[in-house]
Amino acid sequence: MSEFDDDLHSLQLSDDGSYTAYSKEYDEHYHSTKDGALKESLVKHVLPAFTCVMKDEVSILDICYGLGFNTLATLLHVQENFPDKKIRIYSPELDVSLIKSLKYFTYPEEFEKYKHIILALSNTGIYEDEKIYIEIFLGDAREYVKKFKNKFDIVYQDAFSPSSNPILWTREYFKDIREAMKDDGVLTTYSIALKTRLALYENGFHLYLNSGKEFRSATIASPSELNNFERVDIQHKISCNPDVQSLKDKDL
Ligand SMILES: C[S@@+](CC[C@H](N)C(=O)[O-])C[C@H]1O[C@@H](n2cnc3c(N)ncnc32)[C@H](O)[C@@H]1O
Repeated sequence: MSEFDDDLHSLQLSDDGSYTAYSKEYDEHYHSTKDGALKESLVKHVLPAFTCVMKDEVSILDICYGLGFNTLATLLHVQENFPDKKIRIYSPELDVSLIKSLKYFTYPEEFEKYKHIILALSNTGIYEDEKIYIEIFLGDAREYVKKFKNKFDIVYQDAFSPSSNPILWTREYFKDIREAMKDDGVLTTYSIALKTRLALYENGFHLYLNSGKEFRSATIASPSELNNFERVDIQHKISCNPDVQSLKDKDL
């Protein structure tokens, strides 16, 4: 048992050698243990997002903070490849005790240089320097996203699965996400479920496949057309599955 473990969370080794956690409340891991926590964060979120977004200042909505891999992997990727970029990350997280315990989590050595950031976020929910601003909102993501209009270049949609946390995958939720995003923004998610893709499509997103030899396929979505990814033929998928519906708030 590690210092991080408590009644609701336990540390789990994943297949790329990085640790993730298991949530007893949601009966789910925070990352795919097969893809690996750090690798999943990089290949399903950070790398595809930064392939599309080339700006000098990038605003990111990280849904939800969890162990913070998407936020920390963003810092790693940007500092290694675009050291002059300014990054602003906004991340809701409902689980206050998780955030407080992150200073005890066993992060991969790639994140060692961010110890001061992890500590500041765990203790105060805010970190800021000349290039980086990060805030964790301790509360409900559904309320938080409504505060923003036309703000985000990137959204990491990394909630627990649609079956265990459906409130963060409905058509109404993605309407608020769309309004919070810029027209040329990009959303990344590990979900390839047709229900998820439909909820995005019904809000005007174009859908793309994020696939690679060494990880399970994922989805990229944008209000604008993207050139660097294979388009998902959503009409064909609907015609093959005519009874599938997007999740709706009223059904939960
Ligand atoms: C799959 S984990 C996120 C993993 C995270 N992106 C990472 O890289 O470590 C999902 C997180 O969503 C949080 N959560 C669940 N419902 C929420 C809500 N309504 N608002 C904010 N956070 C929520 C959970 O507490 C959990 O930490």
